Amino acid sequence: MEIKVSENVSSALCEVLVINKFEGERTSQEIANKFAVEKDGFEGKLGETYLIHTLGQSTADKILVVGLGKREEFNENKMREAVGKAIKKLQQIKAKNASFDFDIENDFGKSAVIGASIADYAFDKYKNKKPHHMDEITFAKFSEEQINEGKIFADAMKVARDLANESAQIATPAKLAEVASSIEGLETKIYEKDEIENMKMGAFLAVGQGSAQSPKFIHMKYTGKEVKKRIALIGKGICFDSGGLDLKPAASMLTMRDDMSGAACVLGVMSAITKLQPDVEVHGIIAACENMPSGTSYKPGDVLTAKNGKTIEVDNTDAEGRLTLADALCYACELEVDEVIDIATLTGACLVALGSVASGIMGNDKEMINKLIETGADCGEKFWELPMFKEYFNSLKSDIADMKNTGSRYGGSQTAGLFLQEFVKDVKWCHIDIAGTAFLEKPQGEFISGATGAGVRTLLNYVKNN
Ligand code: BES
Ligand code: MG
Ligand code: ZN
Repeated sequence: MEIKVSENVSSALCEVLVINKFEGERTSQEIANKFAVEKDGFEGKLGETYLIHTLGQSTADKILVVGLGKREEFNENKMREAVGKAIKKLQQIKAKNASFDFDIENDFGKSAVIGASIADYAFDKYKNKKPHHMDEITFAKFSEEQINEGKIFADAMKVARDLANESAQIATPAKLAEVASSIEGLETKIYEKDEIENMKMGAFLAVGQGSAQSPKFIHMKYTGKEVKKRIALIGKGICFDSGGLDLKPAASMLTMRDDMSGAACVLGVMSAITKLQPDVEVHGIIAACENMPSGTSYKPGDVLTAKNGKTIEVDNTDAEGRLTLADALCYACELEVDEVIDIATLTGACLVALGSVASGIMGNDKEMINKLIETGADCGEKFWELPMFKEYFNSLKSDIADMKNTGSRYGGSQTAGLFLQEFVKDVKWCHIDIAGTAFLEKPQGEFISGATGAGVRTLLNYVKNN
């Protein structure tokens, strides 16, 4: 779907003219006031739609009225939701083109574009019979700048969603490395297995050793014209999580191609950052591998040595993400950055705690956590802080090594957070658990089922606003 911007669309001939209505107010079109408002009492609650066939009484064949809720409560998030609902309705009536002419003061073009793109998204490359898609939409009144920024964000989300939706057969560690290398404007280094061995990443290597796909350690670097802050973004890149020798049951394994959603998010962010050109240095880091059972797999009881020399007794091979992240965190801390953020589909416990509504967030710096939570809230991604009480570490104590990789089933997200902290040194750090938000079983809001691109908007806004 192509997204355009134009000064004035209401007088132009079009298939569907999309206008807005605030609760308790009238619309910009008399015909809509006559039918929707006066005759049918259409209220205009957020996301409600009302379709009018104009039968030649307007330059548009149809007018779609979209509710924006109460004017005083309207904001960018509501804009995104309302446009998303409008697109869903337009798809339903099989419209090809539409012109949005919203009578509002705010320049919310960025949110409008993001909402439209989220709702328009489909992962239908494997379908012979494609579902209906719109060709083009035009927005009036928004600035070109807002529309363009919206498109950059929307493209970044699409990169992330496509990668996480893709089968593990295709989205392999090598594929992630290829995608990273193809992003223009970055300095990218891919470390092969022997180089990973030289870096002494014993935890990461152990996870990947049971797979036929060789591991790749990916380091992308963006440098702004000025560097006001240096940030490292680490994405969990388990291209398939079978659980390893501690094999997952079939139902839990079914969607585990999404276990690289953190990596997909980081690739989405890195692909967009070169277009936004913020005054920061951003490192995108992915320890990519598969967690598979085989004769060469790592085993429960193995003792691994991470890059920082700490030893880990393998208690459960299915707690693999934290092992790969441990080495990635050590690597990031050596870059002497100001902040490190890791994003990972890390624990089923996070899904139990927060469902698919919010991601978990933990860290060692309250201000940074709050800033990420706020950034998320402003662009429609919810984060909920989980406590880093040191008692959660007790269950990770090992008789033979510095720690085990799993502990009690209870408080599992926090235990994982405390485990990760063991590999963080002298840097502000936050950990984001997207186990519940990265991949939807059922449609939710403007999202269809499958990958959501969780974290992309927040992390992109975060690095941009720094
Ligand atoms: N990739 C999973 C976590 C996950 C679960 C993500 C459900 C998305 C949806 C992770 O590697 C895992 O298997 N975690 C285990 C840890 C356990 C063995 C301590 C879990 O959460 O069950
Ligand atoms: Mg696992
Ligand atoms: Zn996993």
